[in-house]
Amino acid sequence: MIHLKTNAEVELMRESALLVSAALSEVAKFLRPGITSMQADQLAETFIRDNKAVPSFKNYRGYPFATCISVNDAVVHGFPTDQVLKEGDVVSVDVGVFKNGFHGDSAYTFAIGSIPDEVKSLLRITRESLYKGIEKAIAGNRVGDISYAVQEHTEKKAGYGVVRELVGHGLGRHLHEDPQVPNYGRKGAGVKLKEGMVIAIEPMINLGVRDVFHDKDGWTVRTKDSSPSAHYEHTICVRKNRADILSSFDMIEKMEKSNPNLDSSYY
Ligand code: MF3
Ligand code: CO
Repeated sequence: MIHLKTNAEVELMRESALLVSAALSEVAKFLRPGITSMQADQLAETFIRDNKAVPSFKNYRGYPFATCISVNDAVVHGFPTDQVLKEGDVVSVDVGVFKNGFHGDSAYTFAIGSIPDEVKSLLRITRESLYKGIEKAIAGNRVGDISYAVQEHTEKKAGYGVVRELVGHGLGRHLHEDPQVPNYGRKGAGVKLKEGMVIAIEPMINLGVRDVFHDKDGWTVRTKDSSPSAHYEHTICVRKNRADILSSFDMIEKMEKSNPNLDSSYY
């Protein structure tokens, strides 16, 4: 069942989504070679709790951490670990918060130091595909229009692997609500989009093949061919002429650009 949100509810969701963005920018400030993803997770959790919110992922279906931190061949749902991050790592950070009864959900992929040109292109094109999808998230279109736009930009144009096993989703009082929002599909297919529908659009794109497998921790999803993967996610509200993006990359980009340990020259 799809829960349409009132304008007042959308504003509460904006607050949750922007808190996610702020948590991601705290992580962007902190990321550098030599720290561990566990430290980044703890920083984000403290920040979320200091802001009178709860990390949505912690204990969700048994997930043990506040964030998902997926490094290199990890696609999503990466466990924070005590492994130190190093120059050349591609680090996807996914954060959710629950505040005032509503969830916000957003993710961003960072490059620690310099990364190969082909990985820079993967990051740029994945993030472009997120916005291509968002452009289609208007009332009267269908979920398939979003899916098609993402797939077209990444798989068809760039030859990347679009992960099939994981999808975007509606959200609100629950972290995952209907509808599912795949990153592959057909124009004009699927559920019709209505004003007040809030969804998370989240392309998960591999430099190599689309196939993935679950790590022995039971959560971390990795590429079958060990190629690097990128993940960007926004919480958005469907509107008449243009979607309202409730999360924001502005703060994250600002921190990223002022952090000499991160490469942001590629977008
Ligand atoms: N953004 C991801 C999702 O919507 C993160 C969920 S992680 C989990 O599925 F631990 F909560 F499952
Ligand atoms: Co999500």
